[in-house]
Amino acid sequence: MSGLRVAVLASGTGTNLQAILDTVHGRDGIEVVAVGSDKPTARALARARDAGVETAVFRAADYPDRAARDEAMADWLAERGVELVVLAGYMQLLTPGFIRRFPNRIINVHPALLPSFPGLDAIGQALAHGVRVTGVTVHFVDEGVDTGPIILQRAVPVPDSRDRAELEEAIHAVEHELLPEAVRLIAAGRVTIDPANPRLVLIAPAAK
Ligand code: GRF
Repeated sequence: MSGLRVAVLASGTGTNLQAILDTVHGRDGIEVVAVGSDKPTARALARARDAGVETAVFRAADYPDRAARDEAMADWLAERGVELVVLAGYMQLLTPGFIRRFPNRIINVHPALLPSFPGLDAIGQALAHGVRVTGVTVHFVDEGVDTGPIILQRAVPVPDSRDRAELEEAIHAVEHELLPEAVRLIAAGRVTIDPANPRLVLIAPAAK
């Protein structure tokens, strides 16, 4: 049987956290055991509490520097036996020290087809560039900004209206499928990095 102890880090409304809680938490041995945030008011924290998941807030202002904040956060996650850290709208860059604590065990969802439109406001960047297709990427987190090996991607057409709200809605709907799917695949042990090419993520077919 597969199983995985998962933590989610979120800074905002937490709709991706909710999708994980609703569709993978408590199934096939996957347990969301911790939700962390840099923002005490993040709605994601209330969603976690409603689901009975332990929460903690790691505010930059409470630590001498980012490295100290991330070390406290990594300790908190390690104490809970976390095996996979999911960034779901976590708006802080993780320090190299944190990333080294969870090698190839941190994933992020990004609202564009990377490597196009990394960083902030990917949806605005796509609209400004005039692309006709954008999408969603789930990737491993490395020390760069949205540069880690790509696990899953799905395209989303830009509506003819070029209406931002409409595109956002379409992208979020895809995120809410793709991020839980990545967690399921990782829990099932189907996701590995190609030993011959560290950029390439291999996804094994489902066992028959
Ligand atoms: C998502 O669009 C995600 O791709 C980005 O931040 C947003 C978070 O939304 N990284 P939510 O807090 O999960 O609703």
